[in-house]
Amino acid sequence: VLEYDTNLPYVEQKTLTLELGWGFRSFCRKRRAGRQRNKKGQGFSVRIIRSLIQEYFASLDGPEFKVYDAEDPIVTVTQCFDDLRIPPDHPGRSPSDTYYVTDETLLRTHTSAHQSEHLRSGEADAFLCAGDVYRRDEIDSSHYPAFHQLEGVRLFPTDEVKGAEGLTGDDWTSSPECKLVADDLKSTLEGLMDHLFGETEKRWSEDYFPFTTPSYELEIKYEGRWLEVLGCGVIHEEVLAMSDRGDRRGWAFGLGLERLAMILFEIPDIRLFWTDDPRFVGQFKEGKIRKFVPYSKYPPVYKDIAFWIPEDYVENDFYELARGIAGDIVERMELIDEFTNAKKGKTSKCYRITYRSMDRSLTNDEVDALQDELRVKVEDLGVEVR
Ligand code: PHE
Repeated sequence: VLEYDTNLPYVEQKTLTLELGWGFRSFCRKRRAGRQRNKKGQGFSVRIIRSLIQEYFASLDGPEFKVYDAEDPIVTVTQCFDDLRIPPDHPGRSPSDTYYVTDETLLRTHTSAHQSEHLRSGEADAFLCAGDVYRRDEIDSSHYPAFHQLEGVRLFPTDEVKGAEGLTGDDWTSSPECKLVADDLKSTLEGLMDHLFGETEKRWSEDYFPFTTPSYELEIKYEGRWLEVLGCGVIHEEVLAMSDRGDRRGWAFGLGLERLAMILFEIPDIRLFWTDDPRFVGQFKEGKIRKFVPYSKYPPVYKDIAFWIPEDYVENDFYELARGIAGDIVERMELIDEFTNAKKGKTSKCYRITYRSMDRSLTNDEVDALQDELRVKVEDLGVEVR
């Protein structure tokens, strides 16, 4: 199963919960919910997408794609970043974006964290790796601090991409052999999109990842809008060399499963994946693709908060704090006003918070209580509430 299969002892979970705040607390809670749902035998939209993807890769000619999904989501800095050539000053490494457990360990921010170990094991020349990943981020209908990714890797012996053996650096990336790998990557992923969505309009653009070169992003057209669905590229030769696979060339991609499920099933809010509401859960049976039938939404409650920020203010800390207090009831946090008072030399920010529950009506009193708590606790961030 895709859901939360780490075997951390409970005490350890509890300690981590305290230190990591929202992200880890939610992680533990979701693990429990996942178990319950599995017992009831209900399917989930995310699992359906994952099965469809696996089904597609199993149907391809070439080496069999081995499936990994039981890795511990707590990984080392080496696995998540160093092995992937992500430089020390990369913003993704910062504690404002990533849930650190210790200085050396963290909740993986992407499934690429397992690329190198699977390359090094030499078990398979093609594999998929699925799991839950964690990021501190903004709060809106498509962002949630925990979500699922699926990674795919396909290797080719250097003699299969003829002549690739002696090629390095720019000579490799501008070679016809590299283009061969990139073309295989693109046609494979285009096939995947057609498998998931039927014939869809697609568009490729150049992207950048330290662990692939060249790198690309794939977008599909959905209801008249272009939506980014995945990042990918030709695996950087240094990543292969560091994993003792200098004898191979290959490609890799990573995609977000909730994002694809939202498109395929027309699920309007990412928080729905985490409700136990039978009106949601009951709509998804294993293997069945059906558009989500929306049920009535409860009314939102809007609250604004404004404060002077200190110099070292970190926006994600504020989002995290609000989630810590109100949990999934926070639907959206939006910066609606910002100005600097030249005389004071200070900057003020004003945020609008949308509170809305997915499964009940909120009372004004309870939202006021949450907002009051937020106004007090936010001072821990060194801000001055206005
Ligand atoms: N890990 C990247 C991300 O999370 C996606 C990716 C995977 C890009 C593999 C290239 C190759 O955004």
